Order: sequence, then C-alpha cells, then structure tokens
Amino acid sequence: MEIVFKEAAKTFHLYNDQISYIMQVLPNGQMGQLYFGKRIHDREDFSYLLETVSRPMASCVFEDNKSFSLDHILQEYPSYGTGDYKSPAVEVLQKTGSRITSFIYKGHKITSGKPRLEGLPATYTEGEKEAATLTIYLGDEPTGLSLALSYTIFSNRSAIARSARFVNEGGEELHLTTAMSLCLDLPDHDYDWMQFSGAWARERHLKVRRLEEGIQSVGSRRGHSSHEHNPFVILKRPHTDEFQGEAIGFSFIYSGNFLAQAEVGSHGTARILMGIHPDCFDWKLEPGESFQTPEAVMVYTDRGLNDLSQTFHQLYQKRLARGYWRDRERPILINNWEATYMDFDEKRILDIAGKARDCGVELFVLDDGWFGQRCTEHAGLGDWVANRDRLPEGIAGLARRIGDLGMQFGLWFEPEMVNKDSDLYRAHPDWILHVPGRPSTHGRFQYVLDFSRKEVVDCIYGMMEKILGEADVSYVKWDMNRSITECFSPALPADRQGEVFHRYILGVYDLYERLTSKFPYILFESCASGGGRFDPGMLYYAPQAWTSDDSDAVERLMIQHGTSYCYPVSSMGSHVSTAPNHQTGRLTPLHTRANAAYFGTFGYELDLNTLTEEEQEQIKDQIQFMKKYRRLFQFGAFYRMESPFDGNVTGWMVVNEDKTEAAVGWFRVLSGSNQPYTRMRLKGLDEAALYDITVRREKNKPYGNFYGDELMHIGLVTSDATSGEIPGGEGLGDFESMIFLLKARTQEA
Ligand code: DGJ
Repeated sequence: MEIVFKEAAKTFHLYNDQISYIMQVLPNGQMGQLYFGKRIHDREDFSYLLETVSRPMASCVFEDNKSFSLDHILQEYPSYGTGDYKSPAVEVLQKTGSRITSFIYKGHKITSGKPRLEGLPATYTEGEKEAATLTIYLGDEPTGLSLALSYTIFSNRSAIARSARFVNEGGEELHLTTAMSLCLDLPDHDYDWMQFSGAWARERHLKVRRLEEGIQSVGSRRGHSSHEHNPFVILKRPHTDEFQGEAIGFSFIYSGNFLAQAEVGSHGTARILMGIHPDCFDWKLEPGESFQTPEAVMVYTDRGLNDLSQTFHQLYQKRLARGYWRDRERPILINNWEATYMDFDEKRILDIAGKARDCGVELFVLDDGWFGQRCTEHAGLGDWVANRDRLPEGIAGLARRIGDLGMQFGLWFEPEMVNKDSDLYRAHPDWILHVPGRPSTHGRFQYVLDFSRKEVVDCIYGMMEKILGEADVSYVKWDMNRSITECFSPALPADRQGEVFHRYILGVYDLYERLTSKFPYILFESCASGGGRFDPGMLYYAPQAWTSDDSDAVERLMIQHGTSYCYPVSSMGSHVSTAPNHQTGRLTPLHTRANAAYFGTFGYELDLNTLTEEEQEQIKDQIQFMKKYRRLFQFGAFYRMESPFDGNVTGWMVVNEDKTEAAVGWFRVLSGSNQPYTRMRLKGLDEAALYDITVRREKNKPYGNFYGDELMHIGLVTSDATSGEIPGGEGLGDFESMIFLLKARTQEA
C-alpha cells in the first residue's frame, strides 16, 4: 500500500495490490479525479487522463481558453455555479447571499494509519501499517473557508474511506448547506444501479435499474437511515454477476438523513454523491468553527458482487464494529416480544425463560413493557424504572432469578422516545422535538426527545446507567420506533435549526459511546422497529442489529439476502418465531425457520411452552447444532449462490478460513410436482479436499462425499434430497429447506 505524490504532474496515486485511486491538481487549482479501479502501474504523469475539449455551450474557466470547462471535467469535490451544472458536493451560503465557492489546493499530508473522527462512527486501524491516509488541504479564498479532504487506503482491502472537514478561517459567518462525504466522478455510465429498499417488515429488497441520463437517488429525510432505503448502493457493470465482473459499492457510515445519488451528465459521465441529505441541512459556521462530515466507504471489485460484499463484511466486522463482542460468537437468546407483547408479569417471564433454559437457550431478553406505566403503547416511554406491579423485585430481582436459572439477562430500551403519559414528559414537556405553537405529530403515540440537547441525553444516560449498574444485565436491545417530524429544537436559535437532525444523531452516538464505554461487556443490539436503522453507523456501537420485525422465514430470505450485500452475517439479528407467523400468517416448517435464522445471530421469539414435546426436542437439537457451528455461520466467508429475488430457490453458504468446514443453506419457497433435476454450484472450497456431507432438515443424515472441485464445478446435486419420490415423504411441501454440512477429510482419514 502506498500513497505517492508526483510534484511535477501534481498527481496523487493511492494504491495497494488490488486498487488504484488517482487524482490531480487541475490547472485552475481545484482537484480533479482521474481514475478509481483495479490496481495499475504507477507512472510519473497521468495527465493524459485529463481530457478537455471545446464544446458549444460550455462555460469556461480561463479567459483565453475554450476547452477547460468544469462542465465535463471529472472532479473530486465540485461546487455549483462556476461552469459545472451537476449537483455539487458542497454549497456554502455566504452573508452576501452568494453560494459560489471554488476550493483551491493548498497542500497535503500523508500519514500512516487512520485518524479517528471525533464523535462520529468510522472505520479504524489497529496498527499504523494497516492503512495510510492522505489529507488534501484546500481553501476558498474570498470566504476563508478551508476544506480538508481525507482518503484512507487500507493495506489489504479494496476499500477507500473518505470524509471532509471544513473550518471557517474567514471573518464572517457561513452556512454549509451541502457537505457531502464522498463524490466520485466516473468517466462513463455503463452501469446498473443497485439499491436496497422497502418498508417496515420488508427492508433492503434488492432493486436494480440501468443508470441513465439524469439523476437517480435514494435517501432518507426521516431522521434515521430508514426502512425505506439503506445508505448503501452498488454500481455494477451490466454483465457483472455474483462471481465475476466489475462493481463499486458505496456505503455511508451514518444513521441519520442521507443521500446516495448518481447523476449521468450529458457527456456520459456519472457523478456519485453520498452524504448527509442536503434537504433540511444548514450548518452555521462562525469564524473559527468547524464541521466534520461522516465517513463514506467505496469498495471496488472486478471479481463480482460476492467479492464486493465480502470486502465490506470483513472491513465492517473487524474494523468498524468494536469491543468485547466484536469477534465473539453471539449468545443464543430468547426474546419475549412475540410471545407476550406487553402483557406479562414476572411469573410468565420466568415460565418462558425456564423452558428456554431447558432447551439450551443462553440469554433471556425482556422486551418492551417492563417500565413505568407501560402496559400499552400510550404510556411509560421515558420512565426507565421497573414497573413493580409486574416485577415486584425490579429489574435487579428479575435478572437475579434469570441468573439463578443459569441464563444471562438482557433488557429492552427505547432511549430516544417519550410518551406524553409519562413522568418524564410531565416534568419536561419542552424536551421533545417540536415547533412551539404548532401541533406535534405522533408515531405510535410517542414523541421524539430532543437529543440535540445535552441535558436530555444526560438525563436518559442517568436512568439507563442506574439500571444497568444495579442489575446483572449482559445485553441491551436499543429500539427506536418512529421517524422524526417537526424537527425543531427550542433550545437552538433560528439560524441553527438546520443543524438539528445532525445534532440529534450526534446525541444518539454520544449516548451509545458513554454506555458502551461504561459497560464494555454488555452486548448491544440496535433496532428501529426492526431494520429502520440497519446502517454502518450503528454497527460501530452495536455489533448486531435486529434485521427486521418480519420474522417469517420466507420473508427473511429476501431481507437477509438484501442485507448481506453490505453487512456481515454476525450483524444480522435473526430469530425463530411461531407459526402461523405474526407478520404474514404463513405456516412454515420449524426446521425452515431455524435454517434461515442460522445465517445470523440466532435466537427465538416465542414461548417454547406452547410447542409440542416433539417440537421442543427439535428446538434442543437446533440449539446444540448452532452452538457447535455458530462460529462458522457468523464469522465464515459468506456466499450468495441463488437469489430469492430471481426465483423460487435461495442458496447461501458459509466457509471457514481454512476451507475445512462449510455450511450450505438451500431454501425453496413453493413446491412443485415432477420437477427438473437441480444442482447448486458451491463456492470457496478447497478444490482438492474430499468433503463428507450431511444434510439437515430436522436431524443430520449422511449425504455422501465429494471433492471440492466436483462441488464447485459440477455442483451439489440437490434433486435427490427433494425428489419427493416417496409419496408424502421428506422434501415435499412448500417452504422446504435444508442445511448441508461439509467437513473436509483430514489427510490421515
Ligand atoms: C419494535 C421492535 O422491532 C420489536 O422487536 C419490539 O422490540 C417492539 N418494537 C417493542 O415495542
């Protein structure tokens, strides 16, 4: 890995074994983009890549030159209004009313490692040799606004992390109204745009469309990254598939409003922008003040989408997630939400926990309804003290009893919210985000606390710290069940209201940072009505997230498949729930529910007492199985082989580091009669190794032995297991699934 600067040509070349990123100081002093892609040789001068041509209608920079126009030059961090008519990376409102800026190169610094971003989640290194960082300093002279563009290249990853920092070194106040974290101008637009979109209970469904002239974008203005769109997009070449071809992934390490946009210009170039959504954003910079954008990460591959995803998985699992739980297998949990909703008392909880313990579950999680007057959605949020009518010995007492059963104890919070019927709201009605004199919109009868205010965050921290300090709590589920409306903070002046959305998220990060530092052994799981804040920002604090409120196994195939394009299996909260399923009414076999949930953190979301003895035996076997193989599932290399967005069958696979163990998930939504033969080509195996295979529906059964090359090039024959030759036998029926376990024979065997 290297970052080189060629003084004569004024070019920067960031490269490692896999990728190259090249920029140049343009003749007008602004930064130009020359190349991002597969690693190429370094050379003294890459200026031949800066193409200029005289075009009618072009607005030109130099008085004596008709060809240098920002309209068609690829740039690093463009402004609007000086010849470039596309959406800009930066816009600054000045006292004069002008929004024109031009950031000119002043100097640069190359350092080893990667500096932290104060108060913001970001990728990190654990040694100086893991990465190198280039900071380019630019300035807009008339305003005195300085800009530092930061680029980190990792030694062994095809990833570049970027962010921007502004300092007002002038004498007058300025307003940043657009400040993107990333801009990438590409020379052509021969790409498909992939986005991960949906809604509550159907998050991150893959949508693909051709990139065309004009703007295509996804984003959020809800105050959280949202169920609707994920802050992650991919540009892939039309013929790229899971295993070959070029693609670039763009991921935003942030949990609030965002914009991810591609704009194809009239000369066929494509501009990618990613950052805080400029709508509703206006950050005031007094002289001397600064603003740091969140980080965005770009990953390049020429080896297909699986390779792209694995790069994100490894980076986010190892150098974004942090702390005690980062590399640890996750406890198998039971959560009482779908078993009881808010209708429970201590006895009911202990009944559920006791049976779960008998089946081998390790952690009991008490969900919503344990605090204040929280017996319905109308009351209690904000009062983080146990409801003694339900829990006579409080949380500490219940945690002790759960501990006596031999289980760990976990607890649900929704720290950012308040009900009007709560002691907190009665004491501080002005602590919600609201516009004085206007009605406030509720969501689920709750209001959003003004986390842009330190005293509000302090108060919630105080209540949470007390409970977590007094009781033996090993896990926290941090929920967030509504989007933000009336985003206005009475504590801020008029000209700082455009800061509230971002200040709110900084408050959330501050609370997370304080709690995770104070309680480093607690496993945090983030949640926002399921997957409404499944983003890299959250992963920095909580290594796992509740993937979706939809626990139906068939729906989960799409949700987990879509999520896997960016996020590792170890981050996906996945539970077995009851049938008929509460979100879809669908009846799926118990083994299929488990088979889908193994590709995640694994747990249960039902009262096991309601199952038959035979089903309980099956659950015990599932738990034993997952305990044995969870390292493989959660930390193995993950492959997508068949997509639920393309057809009836989904195929997933995980392979351990030395390729001696693998697990393959095969899922078929609808059954059929007299079906064609089927095979699934496996990936990531050792060609020469002989693998013993067992197939698992309810129990493991031998399935023969095959060499890695057979399994990868011929494929695993799945029709045998699903032929339905025995009338009414195994393998028939809708929502069928199997796990194939592969174990390489050792030399001696
Ligand atoms: C939404 C979450 O996603 C559910 O799992 C549950 O915790 C409820 N909120 C509780 O209100």
